[in-house]
Amino acid sequence: MASVRVKLVEGHLAGATNHPGSKDLDYQAIYNQIAAAIPTNPSADDAHSYGPVLVRLAWHASGTYDVKTNTGGSDGATMRHMPESGHGANAGLDVARAVLEPIKQTHPAISYADLWTLAGVCAIQEMEGPTIPWRPGRADKTQDACPPDGRLPDGARPDGNHLRDIFHRMGFDDREIVCLAGAHAVGRCHADRSGFDGPWTNTQTTLNNAYYRLLLSRDWKPRSDPAWKGPMQYADEGGKGKLMMLPADMGLLQDPAFRKWVEIYAKDAQRFHTDFAKAYSKLIELGVAFPASSEYITFKRTDE
Ligand code: HEM
Repeated sequence: MASVRVKLVEGHLAGATNHPGSKDLDYQAIYNQIAAAIPTNPSADDAHSYGPVLVRLAWHASGTYDVKTNTGGSDGATMRHMPESGHGANAGLDVARAVLEPIKQTHPAISYADLWTLAGVCAIQEMEGPTIPWRPGRADKTQDACPPDGRLPDGARPDGNHLRDIFHRMGFDDREIVCLAGAHAVGRCHADRSGFDGPWTNTQTTLNNAYYRLLLSRDWKPRSDPAWKGPMQYADEGGKGKLMMLPADMGLLQDPAFRKWVEIYAKDAQRFHTDFAKAYSKLIELGVAFPASSEYITFKRTDE
């Protein structure tokens, strides 16, 4: 299998701690190691895959970015530190960080910030998502750089204004919001993490456009089984089915400007992949000052 080596230039990360420095790193080898770890999840509920939680780790590390103050974002990997690791939105992401720790130990020269975003890209590609060009150059920062709590979206809020406040702050528009939410094609909610429970689709480890198709086609009603004691969430089959939607997911149907894009992505799987690759690539680069010499790498999937 071909692998790609990229030289990082020393000095561009002045002021940061634990930066990667000048090293030749075999990023495809790191990708392959992450890919090998993905199916080791013992949980049948997670379809034995760490893929979705790695996509979520990279997203939560990046989605704290504030374009106005140029704070937050994937640069820094500040979720290693309190208070950010303890923010409610990040519950359960210790699992993803632990999966990556042995890989960091094998390749100490890669920064956590680069490793976590590379893991998101790897997980998307290994789950049949689009190819996402990635480049190195993020540094690790100290606790002082932790963003304030409250920068990530609240699943219990269905209102478009909340989603717009959160995502416009990062620099995304309405189309990109709907496109990124399509990541909920994979993975599930865990009652012991967010309080919500269950998967969005029946294809939890395939990043396709099923999220949009199901949003439009199923009979979503508040989950009604008497055993459910968690927060209000939606279930298919009129509230009795096994699939779920968050109030925030349903908000994409209720807001006409969002719904337009739900309908487009439900009809056009290729368009979803093309737009998702661009939006996720933008997400994991928010606020990162890459060195001029930084080159994009396109990783080969392990089944290629
Ligand atoms: C639109 C606003 C969003 C809200 C309100 C939201 C909320 C949530 C919640 C509550 C969970 C369940 C966590 C758990 O209990 O394990 C979750 C999981 C997840 N989210 Fe989102 N999310 C949003 C956007 C995104 C975006 C932009 C991405 C990535 C591009 C993403 C990727 C994921 C993935 C992959 C999971 C599954 C994790 C797993 O299976 O462990 N989400 N999200």
